[in-house]
Amino acid sequence: MKTATYQRDLAFYRHPELVHAMFDDPAYVGRVLRLIGAQDAGRVNVLDAGCGAGAMVGRMATLRQTWRYTGLDRSAGLLADAATRYPEIVFEQADLTDPAAMARYRAQDVVTCLGHTLSYQLSDEHLDAALDGLASCLRPGGLLIIDTFQAAVASPSLTHTLVSPWGPVRLETTGQVREIGFLDVTWTWQIPGRRAVRETFRQRAIPVPDLTHRLHQRGLTLIECDHEPGDPDEPDGSAGASDPNSPSVPSSPKASGDRSEAGQGSGRDVRGDVSALLAFQLDA
Ligand SMILES: C[S@@+](CC[C@H](N)C(=O)[O-])C[C@H]1O[C@@H](n2cnc3c(N)ncnc32)[C@H](O)[C@@H]1O
Repeated sequence: MKTATYQRDLAFYRHPELVHAMFDDPAYVGRVLRLIGAQDAGRVNVLDAGCGAGAMVGRMATLRQTWRYTGLDRSAGLLADAATRYPEIVFEQADLTDPAAMARYRAQDVVTCLGHTLSYQLSDEHLDAALDGLASCLRPGGLLIIDTFQAAVASPSLTHTLVSPWGPVRLETTGQVREIGFLDVTWTWQIPGRRAVRETFRQRAIPVPDLTHRLHQRGLTLIECDHEPGDPDEPDGSAGASDPNSPSVPSSPKASGDRSEAGQGSGRDVRGDVSALLAFQLDA
């Protein structure tokens, strides 16, 4: 078995079909659209930052066809796949933490940053740069929709199956907390007929109060917090963090142990206890 530790792009990303299958979750996108809902009518410019292989923005585009979409990501391979899948959407390579790159996207009605993309910004410096970038893309009154996991919680092993062009791909996920506030996620995945690959990568927890504070400094106000059923009452993640039996924190909306056919979309997120989907609005 190949084993590797990545801090930046995952080996997994070399298989855009799998990334797409993992994040193509209609129920999750339904929750995102509900948060955007007030802007339902007419033309809405949406920028999806950290769009991966385009699963979520592509799903949005099928559900809100009059809106205009741009997806950005730093992974050229994922973007190439997204562009093939969704020719009607503009996909561009950019790093969220690069102010010059983000300056190209101004006056958006809605910016989405999903799939815990912010949790890949491991240092405060990178997180703040990414938040600067996201905020700079909005028009006054525009919405920023972000998901975050709020507490790094050790995870038991969970297995689910992705539907892929090569047949069912088995993905096992575990999470370990080696440093407070950070989760080392290990994915072991098995494509039929190939050697299993294991990779470990780090993500940071971003509690809602922390994110709210950082965004408030950039002129954004939290207007709605959409917790999964079973989330802690308090959005600071303390319940999940202190509970040794707390469910796991895999790293994607589709990483659910309670489904056997990821790609069919049950919408349940096992990170629900510590994950939140948030809507912020830029002050007018
Ligand atoms: C978990 S995936 C998001 C999945 C995606 N939202 C979808 O619909 O499939 C996280 C993505 O964020 C991207 N990413 C992480 N940090 C980034 C950064 N600083 N700038 C641009 N993209 C970034 C990664 O390349 C990856 O594609």
